[in-house]
Amino acid sequence: MIDCANDFALPTPSLLLDLDVLERNIAAMAARAAALGVRLRPHWKTHKCIEVARLQARHSAFGGTVSTLEEARAFADAGFDDITWPLPLPLTRLVDARTLARRVTLRVVVDSEPAIAALVRESATWHVWLKVDCGYHRAGVDPDADALIDLAQRIDQAPHLTFDGLLSHSGHAYRAVGREARAAVAEEERQVMVDAKTRIEDAGIAVPAISVGSTPAMTAVEHLEGVDEARPGNYVFFDHTQVALGSCGVEDCALSVLTSVISCPPGADHAVVDAGALALSQDPGARLATPRTMGEVLADGSPMRLDGALRLVSLSQEHGVLNRPVPVGTKLRILPNHSCLAAACFDQYTCIRGGEVIDRWQIRRERS
Ligand SMILES: Cc1ncc(COP(=O)(O)O)c(C=O)c1O
Repeated sequence: MIDCANDFALPTPSLLLDLDVLERNIAAMAARAAALGVRLRPHWKTHKCIEVARLQARHSAFGGTVSTLEEARAFADAGFDDITWPLPLPLTRLVDARTLARRVTLRVVVDSEPAIAALVRESATWHVWLKVDCGYHRAGVDPDADALIDLAQRIDQAPHLTFDGLLSHSGHAYRAVGREARAAVAEEERQVMVDAKTRIEDAGIAVPAISVGSTPAMTAVEHLEGVDEARPGNYVFFDHTQVALGSCGVEDCALSVLTSVISCPPGADHAVVDAGALALSQDPGARLATPRTMGEVLADGSPMRLDGALRLVSLSQEHGVLNRPVPVGTKLRILPNHSCLAAACFDQYTCIRGGEVIDRWQIRRERS
Protein backbone atom coordinates (compact mmCIF):
# COMPACT_ATOMS: atom_id res chain seq x y z
CA MET A 1 0.00 0.00 0.00
CA ILE A 2 0.85 3.55 -0.28
CA ASP A 3 3.28 4.40 2.48
CA CYS A 4 4.05 7.20 0.11
CA ALA A 5 5.72 10.57 0.10
CA ASN A 6 9.26 9.30 0.50
CA ASP A 7 9.36 10.28 4.14
CA PHE A 8 9.66 13.95 3.34
CA ALA A 9 10.12 15.54 6.77
CA LEU A 10 7.79 18.37 5.93
CA PRO A 11 4.71 19.88 7.48
CA THR A 12 1.51 19.02 5.65
CA PRO A 13 0.02 20.25 3.46
CA SER A 14 3.13 21.22 1.43
CA LEU A 15 3.34 21.92 -2.29
CA LEU A 16 6.03 19.77 -3.93
CA LEU A 17 7.63 20.82 -7.20
CA ASP A 18 9.74 18.23 -9.00
CA LEU A 19 12.46 20.25 -10.74
CA ASP A 20 13.53 17.46 -13.11
CA VAL A 21 10.00 17.22 -14.50
CA LEU A 22 9.58 21.01 -14.56
CA GLU A 23 12.77 21.48 -16.58
CA ARG A 24 11.78 18.73 -18.99
CA ASN A 25 8.36 20.34 -19.58
CA ILE A 26 9.87 23.78 -20.14
CA ALA A 27 12.42 22.46 -22.63
CA ALA A 28 9.79 20.38 -24.46
CA MET A 29 7.37 23.30 -24.96
CA ALA A 30 10.22 25.59 -26.06
CA ALA A 31 11.19 23.00 -28.69
CA ARG A 32 7.57 22.59 -29.74
CA ALA A 33 7.06 26.35 -30.21
CA ALA A 34 10.29 26.55 -32.21
CA ALA A 35 9.21 23.62 -34.42
CA LEU A 36 5.82 25.28 -34.99
CA GLY A 37 7.55 28.56 -35.86
CA VAL A 38 5.96 30.70 -33.13
CA ARG A 39 7.31 32.86 -30.33
CA LEU A 40 6.55 31.44 -26.87
CA ARG A 41 5.11 33.94 -24.40
CA PRO A 42 4.26 31.66 -21.47
CA HIS A 43 1.42 32.42 -19.10
CA TRP A 44 3.09 32.99 -15.72
CA LYS A 45 -0.20 32.76 -13.81
CA THR A 46 0.29 28.98 -13.58
CA HIS A 47 3.40 29.31 -11.40
CA LYS A 48 3.54 32.99 -10.29
CA CYS A 49 7.21 32.34 -9.61
CA ILE A 50 10.26 34.33 -10.66
CA GLU A 51 12.58 31.30 -10.69
CA VAL A 52 10.26 29.38 -13.05
CA ALA A 53 9.94 32.40 -15.36
CA ARG A 54 13.75 32.66 -15.45
CA LEU A 55 13.98 29.01 -16.50
CA GLN A 56 11.45 29.70 -19.26
CA ALA A 57 13.44 32.75 -20.37
CA ARG A 58 16.58 30.61 -20.54
CA HIS A 59 14.64 28.38 -22.95
CA SER A 60 14.00 31.39 -25.23
CA ALA A 61 10.59 32.43 -23.92
CA PHE A 62 9.80 35.93 -25.15
CA GLY A 63 8.43 38.00 -22.24
CA GLY A 64 5.43 36.58 -20.45
CA THR A 65 1.71 36.73 -19.74
CA VAL A 66 0.05 37.54 -16.41
CA SER A 67 -3.44 37.30 -15.00
CA THR A 68 -3.23 40.21 -12.53
CA LEU A 69 -1.49 43.57 -12.34
CA GLU A 70 0.09 42.50 -9.06
CA GLU A 71 1.71 39.54 -10.83
CA ALA A 72 2.87 41.94 -13.56
CA ARG A 73 4.46 44.20 -10.93
CA ALA A 74 6.25 41.28 -9.25
CA PHE A 75 7.74 40.14 -12.57
CA ALA A 76 8.62 43.73 -13.56
CA ASP A 77 10.45 44.15 -10.24
CA ALA A 78 12.44 41.01 -11.09
CA GLY A 79 13.59 42.55 -14.38
CA PHE A 80 11.04 41.20 -16.89
CA ASP A 81 10.16 44.08 -19.19
CA ASP A 82 7.66 42.75 -21.77
CA ILE A 83 4.39 41.64 -20.24
CA THR A 84 0.94 40.91 -21.69
CA TRP A 85 -2.10 41.20 -19.42
CA PRO A 86 -4.83 39.37 -21.40
CA LEU A 87 -7.72 39.97 -19.04
CA PRO A 88 -10.08 42.38 -20.83
CA LEU A 89 -8.81 45.62 -19.27
CA PRO A 90 -10.75 46.44 -16.07
CA LEU A 91 -11.37 50.20 -16.28
CA THR A 92 -10.98 50.44 -12.49
CA ARG A 93 -7.28 49.50 -12.91
CA LEU A 94 -6.37 52.01 -15.60
CA VAL A 95 -4.34 54.26 -13.30
CA ASP A 96 -2.38 51.33 -11.85
CA ALA A 97 -1.80 49.91 -15.32
CA ARG A 98 -0.54 53.27 -16.56
CA THR A 99 1.95 53.48 -13.66
CA LEU A 100 3.34 50.06 -14.60
CA ALA A 101 3.32 50.86 -18.33
CA ARG A 102 5.80 53.67 -17.63
CA ARG A 103 8.35 51.12 -16.33
CA VAL A 104 7.92 48.20 -18.74
CA THR A 105 6.20 47.31 -22.00
CA LEU A 106 2.76 46.37 -20.70
CA ARG A 107 0.44 45.02 -23.38
CA VAL A 108 -3.24 45.35 -22.50
CA VAL A 109 -6.19 43.58 -24.09
CA VAL A 110 -9.60 44.98 -25.04
CA ASP A 111 -12.77 43.73 -26.68
CA SER A 112 -15.11 46.70 -26.27
CA GLU A 113 -15.65 50.30 -27.29
CA PRO A 114 -15.73 51.64 -23.67
CA ALA A 115 -12.31 50.11 -22.95
CA ILE A 116 -10.81 51.60 -26.13
CA ALA A 117 -12.42 54.97 -25.38
CA ALA A 118 -10.85 54.95 -21.90
CA LEU A 119 -7.41 54.27 -23.40
CA VAL A 120 -7.89 56.94 -26.06
CA ARG A 121 -8.72 59.53 -23.33
CA GLU A 122 -5.40 58.74 -21.63
CA SER A 123 -2.37 60.77 -22.63
CA ALA A 124 -0.04 57.77 -22.09
CA THR A 125 0.96 55.45 -24.92
CA TRP A 126 -0.39 51.89 -24.83
CA HIS A 127 0.27 48.60 -26.56
CA VAL A 128 -3.15 47.10 -27.29
CA TRP A 129 -4.28 43.65 -28.43
CA LEU A 130 -7.83 43.15 -29.67
CA LYS A 131 -9.30 39.99 -28.16
CA VAL A 132 -11.21 37.73 -30.56
CA ASP A 133 -13.61 34.94 -29.61
CA CYS A 134 -12.08 31.88 -31.28
CA GLY A 135 -14.91 29.55 -30.18
CA TYR A 136 -14.52 29.50 -26.38
CA HIS A 137 -17.32 32.09 -25.99
CA ARG A 138 -15.91 33.62 -22.80
CA ALA A 139 -14.53 36.99 -23.90
CA GLY A 140 -13.54 38.48 -27.22
CA VAL A 141 -15.20 40.06 -30.24
CA ASP A 142 -17.28 37.87 -32.54
CA PRO A 143 -14.91 37.36 -35.51
CA ASP A 144 -17.81 37.69 -37.99
CA ALA A 145 -19.28 40.89 -36.51
CA ASP A 146 -18.85 44.38 -37.96
CA ALA A 147 -17.49 45.33 -34.54
CA LEU A 148 -14.28 43.42 -35.35
CA ILE A 149 -13.38 45.95 -38.06
CA ASP A 150 -14.76 48.95 -36.13
CA LEU A 151 -12.75 48.20 -32.99
CA ALA A 152 -9.54 47.40 -34.91
CA GLN A 153 -9.93 50.70 -36.75
CA ARG A 154 -10.47 52.64 -33.51
CA ILE A 155 -7.25 51.22 -32.03
CA ASP A 156 -5.29 51.67 -35.24
CA GLN A 157 -6.32 55.30 -35.70
CA ALA A 158 -5.77 56.45 -32.10
CA PRO A 159 -2.48 58.40 -31.96
CA HIS A 160 -1.36 57.06 -28.55
CA LEU A 161 -2.28 53.44 -29.18
CA THR A 162 -0.02 50.84 -30.77
CA PHE A 163 -2.09 48.05 -32.30
CA ASP A 164 -0.28 44.80 -31.41
CA GLY A 165 -2.75 42.54 -33.22
CA LEU A 166 -5.36 39.87 -32.47
CA LEU A 167 -5.30 37.64 -29.39
CA SER A 168 -7.34 34.56 -28.46
CA HIS A 169 -7.50 31.83 -25.82
CA SER A 170 -8.72 28.36 -26.82
CA GLY A 171 -10.19 27.48 -23.41
CA HIS A 172 -12.69 25.20 -25.14
CA ALA A 173 -9.79 22.79 -25.75
CA TYR A 174 -10.49 21.77 -22.13
CA ARG A 175 -13.71 20.15 -23.40
CA ALA A 176 -11.85 18.11 -26.04
CA VAL A 177 -10.60 14.69 -24.96
CA GLY A 178 -7.82 13.04 -26.94
CA ARG A 179 -5.20 14.38 -29.34
CA GLU A 180 -7.44 14.50 -32.40
CA ALA A 181 -10.18 16.48 -30.65
CA ARG A 182 -7.67 18.92 -29.14
CA ALA A 183 -5.95 19.36 -32.50
CA ALA A 184 -9.34 20.16 -34.06
CA VAL A 185 -9.94 22.94 -31.50
CA ALA A 186 -6.42 24.27 -32.07
CA GLU A 187 -6.99 24.33 -35.83
CA GLU A 188 -10.36 26.06 -35.33
CA GLU A 189 -8.61 28.75 -33.26
CA ARG A 190 -5.88 29.19 -35.87
CA GLN A 191 -8.34 29.41 -38.74
CA VAL A 192 -10.69 31.83 -36.95
CA MET A 193 -7.76 34.12 -36.14
CA VAL A 194 -6.21 34.02 -39.61
CA ASP A 195 -9.64 34.75 -41.18
CA ALA A 196 -10.22 37.62 -38.73
CA LYS A 197 -6.85 39.08 -39.67
CA THR A 198 -7.74 38.82 -43.38
CA ARG A 199 -11.09 40.60 -42.84
CA ILE A 200 -9.37 43.46 -41.02
CA GLU A 201 -6.55 43.73 -43.55
CA ASP A 202 -9.10 43.76 -46.39
CA ALA A 203 -10.50 46.88 -44.69
CA GLY A 204 -7.09 48.51 -45.00
CA ILE A 205 -5.79 48.01 -41.45
CA ALA A 206 -2.50 46.21 -40.89
CA VAL A 207 -2.60 43.49 -38.23
CA PRO A 208 0.94 43.12 -36.86
CA ALA A 209 0.54 39.74 -35.12
CA ILE A 210 -1.71 36.90 -33.97
CA SER A 211 -1.35 35.47 -30.44
CA VAL A 212 -3.13 32.22 -29.48
CA GLY A 213 -2.91 29.57 -26.91
CA SER A 214 -3.75 27.05 -24.29
CA THR A 215 -1.89 23.95 -23.13
CA PRO A 216 -4.32 21.33 -24.50
CA ALA A 217 -4.25 23.06 -27.91
CA MET A 218 -0.48 23.60 -28.00
CA THR A 219 0.28 19.99 -27.14
CA ALA A 220 -1.85 18.76 -30.06
CA VAL A 221 -1.80 21.38 -32.81
CA GLU A 222 -0.44 20.18 -36.13
CA HIS A 223 0.67 23.53 -37.55
CA LEU A 224 0.35 27.22 -36.72
CA GLU A 225 0.62 28.82 -40.13
CA GLY A 226 -0.20 32.52 -39.92
CA VAL A 227 0.24 32.64 -36.13
CA ASP A 228 3.08 34.60 -34.51
CA GLU A 229 2.91 33.80 -30.80
CA ALA A 230 1.55 31.19 -28.37
CA ARG A 231 0.77 31.67 -24.67
CA PRO A 232 0.38 28.27 -22.96
CA GLY A 233 0.77 28.29 -19.18
CA ASN A 234 -0.25 25.02 -17.55
CA TYR A 235 2.35 22.91 -19.40
CA VAL A 236 5.08 23.75 -16.88
CA PHE A 237 3.34 21.61 -14.24
CA PHE A 238 0.50 19.80 -16.05
CA ASP A 239 -2.09 18.15 -13.73
CA HIS A 240 -4.78 15.48 -13.61
CA THR A 241 -7.05 17.41 -15.97
CA GLN A 242 -4.31 17.42 -18.62
CA VAL A 243 -3.74 13.69 -18.06
CA ALA A 244 -7.48 13.08 -18.59
CA LEU A 245 -7.44 15.19 -21.78
CA GLY A 246 -4.41 13.30 -23.07
CA SER A 247 -2.11 16.37 -23.09
CA CYS A 248 0.49 14.53 -21.00
CA GLY A 249 1.18 11.44 -18.92
CA VAL A 250 1.20 11.22 -15.13
CA GLU A 251 5.01 11.11 -15.28
CA ASP A 252 4.95 14.63 -16.82
CA CYS A 253 3.19 16.17 -13.82
CA ALA A 254 5.61 18.30 -11.80
CA LEU A 255 3.36 19.46 -8.97
CA SER A 256 1.81 17.50 -6.12
CA VAL A 257 0.42 18.26 -2.68
CA LEU A 258 1.96 16.38 0.24
CA THR A 259 -0.74 15.64 2.78
CA SER A 260 -1.25 13.38 5.80
CA VAL A 261 -4.16 11.30 7.03
CA ILE A 262 -5.63 13.03 10.10
CA SER A 263 -8.76 10.97 10.74
CA CYS A 264 -9.88 7.39 10.14
CA PRO A 265 -12.38 6.47 12.82
CA PRO A 266 -12.66 2.75 13.73
CA GLY A 267 -14.97 1.00 11.26
CA ALA A 268 -15.05 3.96 8.85
CA ASP A 269 -15.05 3.25 5.13
CA HIS A 270 -13.11 6.44 4.41
CA ALA A 271 -10.30 8.62 5.81
CA VAL A 272 -9.62 12.35 6.00
CA VAL A 273 -6.45 14.21 4.97
CA ASP A 274 -5.31 17.75 5.74
CA ALA A 275 -5.55 18.97 2.15
CA GLY A 276 -8.90 20.50 1.33
CA ALA A 277 -10.13 23.19 -1.03
CA LEU A 278 -7.52 25.65 0.29
CA ALA A 279 -4.73 23.33 -0.85
CA LEU A 280 -6.23 21.82 -4.03
CA SER A 281 -9.03 24.21 -5.02
CA GLN A 282 -12.54 22.93 -5.77
CA ASP A 283 -11.81 22.45 -9.45
CA PRO A 284 -13.83 19.38 -10.53
CA GLY A 285 -11.32 18.43 -13.24
CA ALA A 286 -11.98 17.27 -16.77
CA ARG A 287 -15.69 16.81 -17.36
CA LEU A 288 -15.31 13.41 -18.92
CA ALA A 289 -12.74 12.01 -16.47
CA THR A 290 -13.84 8.73 -14.94
CA PRO A 291 -14.09 8.05 -12.15
CA ARG A 292 -14.85 11.56 -10.89
CA THR A 293 -12.07 12.75 -8.62
CA MET A 294 -11.17 15.77 -6.54
CA GLY A 295 -7.52 14.70 -6.47
CA GLU A 296 -5.77 11.45 -7.39
CA VAL A 297 -3.37 9.80 -4.94
CA LEU A 298 0.06 9.09 -6.40
CA ALA A 299 1.80 5.79 -5.86
CA ASP A 300 5.33 5.87 -4.52
CA GLY A 301 8.26 5.62 -6.85
CA SER A 302 9.67 7.12 -9.99
CA PRO A 303 8.41 7.85 -12.60
CA MET A 304 5.20 9.00 -11.02
CA ARG A 305 2.05 6.95 -11.47
CA LEU A 306 -1.40 6.98 -9.94
CA ASP A 307 -2.32 4.65 -7.08
CA GLY A 308 -5.46 4.05 -9.16
CA ALA A 309 -7.71 2.88 -6.32
CA LEU A 310 -7.32 5.71 -3.84
CA ARG A 311 -8.61 9.22 -4.48
CA LEU A 312 -10.23 12.24 -2.88
CA VAL A 313 -13.97 12.22 -3.34
CA SER A 314 -14.88 15.48 -1.60
CA LEU A 315 -13.19 18.56 -0.23
CA SER A 316 -14.18 21.14 2.32
CA GLN A 317 -12.04 24.08 3.37
CA GLU A 318 -9.20 22.17 5.11
CA HIS A 319 -10.47 18.56 4.91
CA GLY A 320 -10.13 16.14 2.02
CA VAL A 321 -12.14 12.91 2.14
CA LEU A 322 -10.54 9.73 0.75
CA ASN A 323 -12.69 6.92 -0.70
CA ARG A 324 -11.07 4.27 1.55
CA PRO A 325 -9.79 3.92 5.12
CA VAL A 326 -6.08 4.68 5.53
CA PRO A 327 -4.23 4.74 8.89
CA VAL A 328 -3.83 8.11 10.60
CA GLY A 329 -0.33 9.51 10.07
CA THR A 330 0.11 8.05 6.56
CA LYS A 331 1.57 10.61 4.18
CA LEU A 332 0.21 10.80 0.66
CA ARG A 333 0.98 12.81 -2.44
CA ILE A 334 -2.04 14.15 -4.32
CA LEU A 335 -2.06 15.05 -8.00
CA PRO A 336 -4.33 18.11 -8.22
CA ASN A 337 -7.06 18.47 -10.81
CA HIS A 338 -5.83 21.98 -11.61
CA SER A 339 -2.22 22.86 -10.84
CA CYS A 340 -2.61 26.62 -11.46
CA LEU A 341 -5.30 26.86 -8.78
CA ALA A 342 -3.45 24.55 -6.37
CA ALA A 343 -0.29 26.67 -6.68
CA ALA A 344 -2.34 29.80 -5.99
CA CYS A 345 -3.29 28.27 -2.60
CA PHE A 346 0.33 28.26 -1.31
CA ASP A 347 3.07 30.78 -0.49
CA GLN A 348 5.97 28.62 -1.66
CA TYR A 349 7.06 25.62 -3.66
CA THR A 350 9.09 22.98 -1.87
CA CYS A 351 11.47 22.08 -4.70
CA ILE A 352 12.52 18.43 -4.92
CA ARG A 353 14.99 16.56 -7.07
CA GLY A 354 15.37 12.80 -6.90
CA GLY A 355 13.34 12.63 -3.70
CA GLU A 356 15.41 15.28 -1.88
CA VAL A 357 14.22 18.74 -0.88
CA ILE A 358 16.72 21.14 -2.44
CA ASP A 359 15.13 24.59 -2.44
CA ARG A 360 12.09 26.75 -1.71
CA TRP A 361 10.70 29.19 -4.25
CA GLN A 362 8.23 31.94 -3.47
CA ILE A 363 4.78 32.07 -5.11
CA ARG A 364 3.87 35.68 -5.88
CA ARG A 365 0.16 35.64 -5.22
CA GLU A 366 -0.17 39.09 -3.70
CA ARG A 367 -3.36 41.02 -4.49
CA SER A 368 -3.94 44.76 -4.39
C1 LIG B 1 -6.03 34.54 -21.90
C2 LIG B 1 -5.28 33.29 -21.60
N1 LIG B 1 -4.22 32.97 -22.33
C3 LIG B 1 -3.50 31.86 -22.12
C4 LIG B 1 -3.88 30.96 -21.12
C5 LIG B 1 -3.05 29.72 -20.89
O1 LIG B 1 -3.80 28.55 -20.99
P1 LIG B 1 -3.30 27.18 -20.37
O2 LIG B 1 -3.16 27.37 -18.92
O3 LIG B 1 -4.29 26.17 -20.80
O4 LIG B 1 -1.97 26.91 -20.96
C6 LIG B 1 -4.99 31.26 -20.32
C7 LIG B 1 -5.42 30.35 -19.27
O5 LIG B 1 -6.43 30.49 -18.63
C8 LIG B 1 -5.72 32.45 -20.57
O6 LIG B 1 -6.81 32.79 -19.84
